[in-house]
Amino acid sequence: MNATEWKEKLSAIRDSFSVSINNVQTENPEAIELRFLGRKGELALLLRDLKDIPIEERKALGALGNTAKEEMMVRLGALKGVPASAGPAAKPNLDLTLPGWPFPKGTLHPLTVTLNRMTECFAKLGFSVAEGPLIEEDYFNFEALNFPPFHPARDMQDTFYVDVKDASGKDMLLRTHTSPVQIRTMKNQEPPIRIISPGRVFRSEAVDASHSFAFHQIEGLYVDKNVSMADLKWTLEEFMKDLFGSSAKVRFMPSYFPFVEPGAEVEVSCVFCRGKADGPRCPVCKGTGWIELLGAGVVHPNVLKACNYDPAKWSGFAFGAGIERFAMLLFGISDMRMLYENDLRILKQVQ
Ligand code: PHE
Repeated sequence: MNATEWKEKLSAIRDSFSVSINNVQTENPEAIELRFLGRKGELALLLRDLKDIPIEERKALGALGNTAKEEMMVRLGALKGVPASAGPAAKPNLDLTLPGWPFPKGTLHPLTVTLNRMTECFAKLGFSVAEGPLIEEDYFNFEALNFPPFHPARDMQDTFYVDVKDASGKDMLLRTHTSPVQIRTMKNQEPPIRIISPGRVFRSEAVDASHSFAFHQIEGLYVDKNVSMADLKWTLEEFMKDLFGSSAKVRFMPSYFPFVEPGAEVEVSCVFCRGKADGPRCPVCKGTGWIELLGAGVVHPNVLKACNYDPAKWSGFAFGAGIERFAMLLFGISDMRMLYENDLRILKQVQ
């Protein structure tokens, strides 16, 4: 097609458009719009043919085509009762004063809200976020964390193994805790290190009100010169006060994890009954006034060595907490299963 033919075709289209407009009783405006201005309408197809026409002429023809299109839109708009100034895109009889459709609004999941709050508290203390894979090597999940092969402490965590071998020929596993991220981070960075690492973990456990086979933890690791148990205690105390209010207290009970020494079970003063012994027995702390919330301790020298850190020069603390447990305390949820059932009555109460 050359330029002259193209122009003739355009004027033919305009003519038949006019005929259609004048016969609007037999052809409705929508059908006319589709036929001439639709994506595969006559005008669109003609504009596509422009590509075969030499560039020097193409520009002027394109402008002609566009003017024709605008004209048609205005005429169609007038037909549909839309003032020309409103543009043909506006719908006829559109009443902007009518109330809109109610749009159900989503909310963040209680676990996400909890995690965000926890992350914010640690961010204020200078911790940044690190992540690691869910399918992990025995080396990162156990060995580098000072669990020797066949060590009974491996039984503390009922492990799901995967039918895939790692480079050393061992079965891969679903990580049983977020502690492998400690190793991955130390192997990739020089101290000082100050990270938290939230994420999903897996254990072969029966589901009940406080257990699940897939849940979430947040790990913390701080490595620097002269880091001590006192730094750990201060950090966790600041964190708990920020999260639960300034009256929250923290206490440490001796405990054992292969990758820390000394190790502790950290408890927070009951945020519900505030440890009052005289009232009715608090169901959350069982009347003890304390709630067990996380495991923690001073990083074991063997762990530092596995990451090529000199234990004479560097020391650190680590902690790990279940996020579900915090969510249950923050939002008064008594059964962990409620967090996974997607009942909107539970999900909506957390904003
Ligand atoms: N990884 C331990 C667990 O899952 C928690 C922990 C983390 C304990 C860091 C001490 C230090 O139980």
